[in-house]
Amino acid sequence: MIDKRDEFGKMFRLEQRLWWYRILHESVERALLKQFGSRRDIAILDAGCGTGGLLDFLRRRGYKHLRGIDGSADAVAFCHERGLDVTLVNLNELASVTPQIQYDAIVCNDVFCYFDDPALHQLIYQLALRLKPGGLLISNNNAFNVFRGQHDIAVGSIRRFVLADFERLAPIANLQILSSTYWSLALSPLILLIRQWQNWQLRAGWRSADQPASDVYFPGEWVNQTLYKLVRAEQQWLPQAPFGSSLFVTFKK
Ligand SMILES: C[S@@+](CC[C@H](N)C(=O)[O-])C[C@H]1O[C@@H](n2cnc3c(N)ncnc32)[C@H](O)[C@@H]1O
Repeated sequence: MIDKRDEFGKMFRLEQRLWWYRILHESVERALLKQFGSRRDIAILDAGCGTGGLLDFLRRRGYKHLRGIDGSADAVAFCHERGLDVTLVNLNELASVTPQIQYDAIVCNDVFCYFDDPALHQLIYQLALRLKPGGLLISNNNAFNVFRGQHDIAVGSIRRFVLADFERLAPIANLQILSSTYWSLALSPLILLIRQWQNWQLRAGWRSADQPASDVYFPGEWVNQTLYKLVRAEQQWLPQAPFGSSLFVTFKK
């Protein structure tokens, strides 16, 4: 992902209105409100912040102490276009940087999928070191191997997760899982069908494996709004869903 300028360009253009990002950003805000109430003075770090969509969203919601780090120079440049406080940092090298600030909350969305187990242990441990006691780590991740497909190849993801992975990892960093949910249950059959169909096309040679496309595209206003409302309703009625292509977890230090 780090070297995929086209994917960052799409992300930058779409993350404020695409249903998937809107749902994710609102989920992060809900987790912050639950833990910190209406406080807007908490220090928040977005680790692997991409093009800064979440930081921009939180800034519009009134959060004042926002910082981002990312390992892609393209992503950081997009963040600077938005006037965000973001630095180029390789998350594999966090251990060599002494923590200067401790954060109330660290968000790390869709980043763990680029780390194998030893590197991920180290990353979660280093993120936890940068949290204040009682601080919150929020992380969304792609889930269940059965959803693996063209999108994973396009964004360079090497793995998918289930909750048991985090139940194993959390104690290593002295973290406790506060909440977790897979999402979206309602859309799972459709996503599964599309991914399996794409995989079949790849195997049959109907689709080029050289230039796989990610799921980051605008499906049209009506579909976008419908998907947003459907998933939002699902989250209201079923705050802890048992299945879905993403897994949203919050941890407490
Ligand atoms: C799928 S994007 C997610 C971006 C953002 N968190 C979001 O939710 O939109 C993954 C991000 O992780 C960053 N990343 C991956 N490996 C990294 C590493 N070793 N160090 C720093 N950033 C990394 C990529 O540059 C990219 O911006």
